[in-house]
Parts: sequence; structure tokens; C-alpha cells
Amino acid sequence: MPLLRAALPAMPVLTLDTLQQPEQIRYVITWGPPPGLFAGLPALQAVFALGAGVDKLLLRPDLPATVPIYRLLDGGMAQQMAEYVRLGVLSYQRHMDIYRRQQAAGVWKMLPPRLPAEVRVGVLGMGEIGSAVAQALVADGYQVSGWSRTPRQLAGVASYHGEAGLGEMLANSDVLACVLPSTPQTQGLLDAERLACLPAGAMVINAGRGDLLDENALLALLDSGHLRAAQLDVFAMEPLPANSRLWQHPSVTLTPHIAAITLRQQAVSQIAANLQRLQAGLAAEGRVLRERGY
Ligand code: GLV
Repeated sequence: MPLLRAALPAMPVLTLDTLQQPEQIRYVITWGPPPGLFAGLPALQAVFALGAGVDKLLLRPDLPATVPIYRLLDGGMAQQMAEYVRLGVLSYQRHMDIYRRQQAAGVWKMLPPRLPAEVRVGVLGMGEIGSAVAQALVADGYQVSGWSRTPRQLAGVASYHGEAGLGEMLANSDVLACVLPSTPQTQGLLDAERLACLPAGAMVINAGRGDLLDENALLALLDSGHLRAAQLDVFAMEPLPANSRLWQHPSVTLTPHIAAITLRQQAVSQIAANLQRLQAGLAAEGRVLRERGY
């Protein structure tokens, strides 16, 4: 709150517990407001999401479709996502997952080294975050490809798009790193059939949204040994239910939705700049297209 007040000195900034005269509220900055809140704000002009993914906001029945939503384009998240994906890719390339299992079994066995240039990484999602992830992987020396809804070109990255492009990229990805948002088009994208397109011994990283990936199909492919490892940050249900087999699976590394946390200062700077643009009658950045879902 102090950061916001400092960034917007000319604007009264209220919190939910100090909210008076809700009929005068013009802008809401939020991650997940209490149900029904928007219905009591008749003067609402825009909502600023404190995150990159707005899937939950788009499902809110109290938020009129006419109120624009702006999402964070970076908010410090792109670099964190790149780090999270690089952690997984590096551990795959250096066989750390296998060595961890060998350690648990008391096995001393060297595996042949694998160079970055011998590892093909496919990035699903090539927006602000996916592009940063792909660029970091290129800089590390991996063979990088990227898949997006519409064609995108990025130096050093083999680009794929559309359904045909997806199958081709999956078949050529030793590590698949998913940073897609959840939209009607991406939900269930990584189903049993598509996951099975990954080459034998591949790894799956999901840091996008849990509902993109069929967890049971993933578990079946890990059990059968077709897939070697998974690093998951997001789940169909969060917190991950205690009875999920993912918790104990030896081939799974999981984290509690921390791959990229909104950094306050960056988020506030972006939102304040956006608010100033709106007030000056200019277009703000990161406007969500509702039918597209991001
Ligand atoms: C986090 O998951 C976000 O969408 O910002």
C-alpha cells in the first residue's frame, strides 16, 4: 500500500477495510477480491490484476464484461519464470533427477555427460514470459523451440504455431516447458495423446496453469517410464490435495505455485504508469481480450 500511495500521490488509495463510498471507486487493483465486490462498485472503470494470468477474474459473475481488465505483462515474473524453467532443464541435462534416485538406492553410477546443445527444449507460450524463458535457454546453449497460438519469431528459437505445429514441436522436445495461460483454448491441451507425442525419456515442466495438463495421463506416462521426469508448479486443484499421487512420485518435483511471484515494486510501477495513461486519455498496456482469455 505505501508503494502504491507513493506512486500515485494525486489519487486516494483505499483498502478493502478502509473502503468508504464504494459508489465512487473507479479502479480496482486486485488478485482475488471477495465474491460480489464488483457488483457494489457502479463507477468501476478498470480492474488491474496483480498477476499475469487472469483466468479467475474472467470467471467472476460480478464483474461486468464492459469493464476492461489489465494484467501484468511482466511484474518481475518473466525472469523468475526463466529461472524456474532453467532449474528444471539444467537438472535434466545434468541428470540430477536420476542421481537423486540413485542416491536413495545407494547406487554409485556415472552417466555419460550431455551438453546443452544436445538437449531440445520446447516452450509452450511465447508471450512476454515465454519469450524471456526461450531467450534465457538460448543463451544457455540449448536447442530451443517455441509454440504460440499465432506465429511469433524470436532470434535463435524455432517457431511453431497451431495444432500441426504443436505435434511437431512435442515430438522434438526432450524437455517441454509450459508457461501458457488458462483459456478455453488451452485447457486440457496437454492430454494423454499429446503428452505421448513427447519422445521417450522426456521431461515436462508446467509453470503455466494446472488445468492445461491431464495429471493422470502424466502419472501414467511417468509410471510406464515413457516420461522421465516432471517439475510442476501449478495443479488442477490448489493446494494440491493430500491424496494426489504426485506428492510421492519419485519422478516428480513439485512446488506450491511459486515459479513467479508478483514483485511489488515492478507491479506497482506498471499499474501506476497504466493508470496515468488512462487518466491522460491514452491506451493502457496489458489489456485483456476477454474472448482470447489473456
Ligand atoms: C501467477 O500465477 C500469475 O498469473 O501471476
